[in-house]
Amino acid sequence: MRIIVGITGGIAAYKAPELVRLLKKAGHEVRCAATEHALEFVTRVTLETVSGAPLYSNLFASGRTEHISLKDWGEILVVAPATANIIGKVAGGIADDALSTLLLAFSQKPVIMAPAMNCEMWAHPAVQRNVALLKSWGIRMVGPEEGELACGVNGVGRMAEPEQIVDAVCQSESLKLKGERWLVTAGPTYERIDSVRFIGNYSSGKMGFALAEALAKQGADVELVTGPTYLNVSNCQHINVHRVESAREMYAAATEAFPRCQGAILSAAVADYRPAECADHKLKKQGDEGMTLQLVQNPDILATLGGMKRESQRLVGFALETDHELENAQGKLKRKNLDYIVMNSLRDKGAGFGTDTNKVTILAADGSRKESPLLSKKEVAEMIVQEVTS
Ligand code: CTP
Repeated sequence: MRIIVGITGGIAAYKAPELVRLLKKAGHEVRCAATEHALEFVTRVTLETVSGAPLYSNLFASGRTEHISLKDWGEILVVAPATANIIGKVAGGIADDALSTLLLAFSQKPVIMAPAMNCEMWAHPAVQRNVALLKSWGIRMVGPEEGELACGVNGVGRMAEPEQIVDAVCQSESLKLKGERWLVTAGPTYERIDSVRFIGNYSSGKMGFALAEALAKQGADVELVTGPTYLNVSNCQHINVHRVESAREMYAAATEAFPRCQGAILSAAVADYRPAECADHKLKKQGDEGMTLQLVQNPDILATLGGMKRESQRLVGFALETDHELENAQGKLKRKNLDYIVMNSLRDKGAGFGTDTNKVTILAADGSRKESPLLSKKEVAEMIVQEVTS
């Protein structure tokens, strides 16, 4: 891998050359980027010698946009040590020197940080808040460890050992779905009746969002096409969210994305029908007779993708059934040309719409079958991803 090691101004910077040496020994290409304060602890000559490449430390030295070319070159950025200052800058979106500018430009690529500071600084609510924020954006933290600190006290704040940081880099390299792109559909669709009313359903989108997070956790880039829901993703570095309203909008987004994907999991509860006409004003009451709404069929997104599917692509559908569950699900698996279908039975307590739990049976095109117990939607998502990507 092409790895950028970012070094900031803490005493643990003296371990940075050793980290660079170990990464090079493991076969990676390394370039270093350092803050001005880091160079108080470790010299330019040392970093350039161990990495075998020029050091990036001055935004204006070359007069070019080096933070962007370095961002394009690097596959992963490891900040070791990461001071409270650099963590706070990233959390606040501040880019006022070479490394902080590079970090902001690196928002679509993996970043690992190895924090190091005094234990009371580490415990400060501002630092803890910033660390939690960075984690929610998908930045991985290694350490800090407990032990003797440079100031002489014992506590949490020591930078993780270089070997531990190298392990974290190797782990992100071995993610199963790294380099793959997956499509996920989630949530309900709303089909407009007039300017203030729609036909919808009770789907919360929780299952689809959990699937997108589980795929991203394995290294995939995810195109998440979701109907109306209040949910947000935590891994926005790897999940590209497309918010749509109707089945036809979902159809357009999904069919556009699918050819670029290695696989798709369609968990959205798509309305099968929509009103034939949508009034551009609020419909008025029409007397005591009642009202007849004429519906027309929506396109079947899953069946369309089944027809488009290339040999190498995997397609997974969901089936929400109330009776003749297995028979119906198997029928959908064949009819829509799927590799897997995930069956929910509404007869199972705790499964289906709105709940935080689910219980599913995964049926494969080769006839094999796997059942889950009642689990959280997050656990079910991990099981589904494990099953359909093995
Ligand atoms: N689906 C879809 N587009 C539609 C309807 C359904 O992509 N217009 C997908 C769902 O996301 C799900 C699967 O098809 O993955 C099965 O949905 P379901 O509503 O259970 O099945 P239908 O094919 O609509 O059949 P029926 O409602 O008759 O059971």
